[in-house]
Amino acid sequence: MTTTLIDGIGLLYTGDPEREEIPGAALVIEDGLVAWTGPAAEAPDADERVDAGGRAVIPGFVDSHAHLVFAGDRTAEFQARMSGEAYTGGGIRTTVAATRRASEAELATRARALVGEMLAQGTTTVEIKSGYGLSVEHERRSLEIATGLTDETTFLGAHVVPAGTDADSYVRLVAGEMLEACAPYAKWVDVFCERGAFDGDQTREILSAGRKAGLGVRVHANQLTEGPGVRLACELGAASADHCTHLTAADVDALASSGTVATLLPGAEFSTRSPYPDARRLIDAGATVALATDCNPGSSFTSSMAFCVALAVREMRMTPLEAIRAATYGGARALRRTDVGWLRRGARADLVVLDAPSYVHLAYRPGVPLVHQVFHRGLLLEE
Ligand code: NIG
Ligand code: FE
Repeated sequence: MTTTLIDGIGLLYTGDPEREEIPGAALVIEDGLVAWTGPAAEAPDADERVDAGGRAVIPGFVDSHAHLVFAGDRTAEFQARMSGEAYTGGGIRTTVAATRRASEAELATRARALVGEMLAQGTTTVEIKSGYGLSVEHERRSLEIATGLTDETTFLGAHVVPAGTDADSYVRLVAGEMLEACAPYAKWVDVFCERGAFDGDQTREILSAGRKAGLGVRVHANQLTEGPGVRLACELGAASADHCTHLTAADVDALASSGTVATLLPGAEFSTRSPYPDARRLIDAGATVALATDCNPGSSFTSSMAFCVALAVREMRMTPLEAIRAATYGGARALRRTDVGWLRRGARADLVVLDAPSYVHLAYRPGVPLVHQVFHRGLLLEE
């Protein structure tokens, strides 16, 4: 078995709470996994040596919230928002119509291209939701495409009620026949719990059915208004409550005292010109926070975790350390994964060599492409 030593690391951010930062570090990869990390002076011998040249190394980003299976374009909706129109989620139906019209090959090609775009920017784990099909066959098709791209697939049949459908019968469909058809392709179930989408009772019904079918739970919660989403997520033992933009004190307490991660999606607030979630309040209360892109054609069409880190630092008053932690370790917690999101012995050797001396540059030099190299499962990606 070949071992590879990455030497000359200016600053290693491990993501491991036991030893989060190691200056002047080295790391050994063996069989696709991290075999050793520590000060360069103590590094063991290896078959091959890569010199990081004083650059920083971080774990590959874990993007725990993305909607990548879709067709169509919503540039005009974005333009209208930048002229003062509000985001309501109503545009989801525009994407549903385009997605239904598209062939499976077209959808797969587009989703694969987005995953490739993410990987080139250092994202080595991504969650992919359905939610632009909204019929048994179209949701199943979206999830089948997603399973070809990631292990982290999420059934979001309850994104909105499709046009011309009665809400109660749609909820029954989602929790019944649609779930049955989609569960074999999904690891998670998710509901957009929001005024104009699904209320507390409907959300509970669908999530409970999903849980019974063996799926883990995650919730689009409290994005546009205060509501029951976050508390339901915590009560049902969801891995993650996502968005968390409009929170009451009880919501913050619930997140801080549960195992549910608060996943913040600042790309959505950027792209909808909405106030950002109060990350400080969540972190100071003791909640675990993740950052993700929410990559989708409506509310957040970015695939860049580095951009989200920069937004989190500048707009959400997170420190650079809190932001990189949320984008790696936090994302892994939101997916209940212990094999990614950190660089310690036994973890997957997913890592990014930055063209910078420190991860702080992700926020200090926003918009600058800082990815020098990406290792995925121990292999160096060719540009
Ligand atoms: O997470 N909020 C619901 N779903 C997506 C937006 C989807 C869309 O506008 O197409 C979100 O922001
Ligand atoms: Fe989303």
